[in-house]
Amino acid sequence: MSPCPTRTPRHSEAATASWRLFRRTRDETFPKNSEIYQAADLPAWLAQSATLDFSHSTSADAGDNPNSTAGYVKYANIEPWLRLNRERAQDLKLHRSEPKRLLDLGCGGGFFLFIAKNLGHSVLGLDIEHVALFTELLELFSVPRVVWRISAFEPLPKLGQKFDWITAFSTNFYLYHPSKERWGTAEWDFFLGDLRQHLTPSGKVFFGLNPLYNGDYYTPELRDLFISHGADVERERILFENGVQF
Ligand SMILES: C[S@@+](CC[C@H](N)C(=O)[O-])C[C@H]1O[C@@H](n2cnc3c(N)ncnc32)[C@H](O)[C@@H]1O
Repeated sequence: MSPCPTRTPRHSEAATASWRLFRRTRDETFPKNSEIYQAADLPAWLAQSATLDFSHSTSADAGDNPNSTAGYVKYANIEPWLRLNRERAQDLKLHRSEPKRLLDLGCGGGFFLFIAKNLGHSVLGLDIEHVALFTELLELFSVPRVVWRISAFEPLPKLGQKFDWITAFSTNFYLYHPSKERWGTAEWDFFLGDLRQHLTPSGKVFFGLNPLYNGDYYTPELRDLFISHGADVERERILFENGVQF
């Protein structure tokens, strides 16, 4: 099933992406990064020196498990990540929204939730605790996190609240380890059904997926599954604007 069989997906996706970029650049209402720093009352040195000295935690990560965590050193340079996550928050219109409750899966260092928190939202991250740099960033940003490994066919833990938004950006919880095989439609179907239990009646879900090794983001079957549960699918962007429908 296709969301709109009469239009050329490539063209419509390009048009949607251009419109999103236009909205971002014209949008004067979003606080600048510097204002977000101030709102968070972070030390001045943090706002000025974009690269933090996390050498102790990043070298420990590399020493513990070079294959899985050494690549995370790039997150010590926080400025570009704050900028990226400012755009993510802006694209979800969180800067124009009344306070919401957000759950971010695979939250990493908490950049997205830090921005959302400073826009007045209530935030919770969920991630595996295996990257010391991320733990330090979360502490610095005062972003709370539940330590949990998402696994196929296993429900999320009880989180004590329902969420208006559940997000996941650039994460890879949908890989089997160590084979790196991707979840199929059965795994995603279970996962989406479970996410519903954690959403408010008008709750929304957004995934920013990582590409597959061949450059695609999902198989045609998975794309169909997302759409059948009510998602708008635009390349890596999967948005359940009206919740996950079953
Ligand atoms: C590339 S980082 C992205 C972090 C963050 N979402 C961002 O965009 O800055 C991927 C994150 O997904 C987390 N992750 C990977 N597999 C996971 C799983 N099975 N359950 C929970 N988190 C997972 C990793 O620990 C890591 O923090």
